[in-house]
Amino acid sequence: MLNEDQLSKLRRAGEVAAAARDLGISLCKPGAKLYDIAQEVEGYIRDHGCGLAFPCNISINEIAAHYTPSPTDQSRLEIGDVVKIDCGGFLDGFIGDTAATVEVGTNAYRDLVEASKRARNTVAEFVGEGTPIREIGRAIEMSIKRDGYKVVENLCGHQILQWDLHAGYSIPPYDAGDETPIKLGDTFAVEPFATNGRGFIDNGKPGNIVIFNREKPVDDPKTQDFLAYIKDEFHGLPFCARSCDFPNAEKYVKVLVRKGVLGSYAQLVEAPGSIVTQHEYTFYAIGKRAEVTTLP
Ligand code: CO
Repeated sequence: MLNEDQLSKLRRAGEVAAAARDLGISLCKPGAKLYDIAQEVEGYIRDHGCGLAFPCNISINEIAAHYTPSPTDQSRLEIGDVVKIDCGGFLDGFIGDTAATVEVGTNAYRDLVEASKRARNTVAEFVGEGTPIREIGRAIEMSIKRDGYKVVENLCGHQILQWDLHAGYSIPPYDAGDETPIKLGDTFAVEPFATNGRGFIDNGKPGNIVIFNREKPVDDPKTQDFLAYIKDEFHGLPFCARSCDFPNAEKYVKVLVRKGVLGSYAQLVEAPGSIVTQHEYTFYAIGKRAEVTTLP
C-alpha cells in the first residue's frame, strides 16, 4: 500500500495527466500542428508541477502508439484523422498514464472510438483487489467484440511502479489464463485498443521516442552533460528530443542512440488503411473497487 503522502502524489499526477489528455483532445482540429499539440500537453503537465512520464504520443489512424513529433515536425492533422493522445505525468515518481481518442472533424468512426472507451469503462466498473488478470482481458475482448471490432492483441495494460512505467505484470486484452490477482495497493493501467484491422501491430519506423538503455563510456563533455541532464530530468523514463530543455538535444539523442546508450522505440502500426482507437486510465487498487486516478 502507498502511504497517504505517496497516494496524494499519485492522485495529483493522475489529475494533471487527465487534464493534459483532455486539453490535447480539445486541440485536435483540422490543420493543427502535431508539434503544437504535443508542446501544449507537455507544457500543461510541467506547469502543474509534474515531470513527463513519457512524451505526448500523437498517433494517427493505423498508428496505434509511439509517435511523438520531432523538434522540427511540420505535420498537421487532417479532417477525418482518428487521433490517439496518450500522455503521462509523474510526481516524485508516482505516475498517471492516460489516453483518449478523437476523430478530427468527422464522425465516420464514432462506434470504433466508443468501442475502446466502453471496454475501458466496463473494466472500471469491477476491477480491484483480487481481480484475476484474465478477467480484465476477458471483459475487454467481450466488450470490443460485441461492438463488432477486434482488440489489438499484442498491446497490453501494465502494472506501474514508482519511476517505472511498465513494471511487473502485463494485462493482455483477452483471457490468456493468467490467474494472478490484482493486489491491494497496486497501481496499473488498463488501455484497450480497438481496431477494424487485423488485430495486431507490427513495429514500424522509429517514432522519436527514446529511453536510457545502458551505460557506456562517452568521451565528449557536451554529450556527457546531455546524459546528466536526461537522467536528472526523466529518471530513466521514456523521453524525446523535443521535450529536452537542452541546446541541440536532437543531435545528442542521435549520437547516443547510435552508441546504444539510448534505445529507440518503433511506432506500433496496424494494417495499412485500418483505424485504431484507444482509451486508457490509471487505477489504484485501494480496495475491492479500484480508484481511477485519471478521471476527467
Ligand atoms: Co500505458
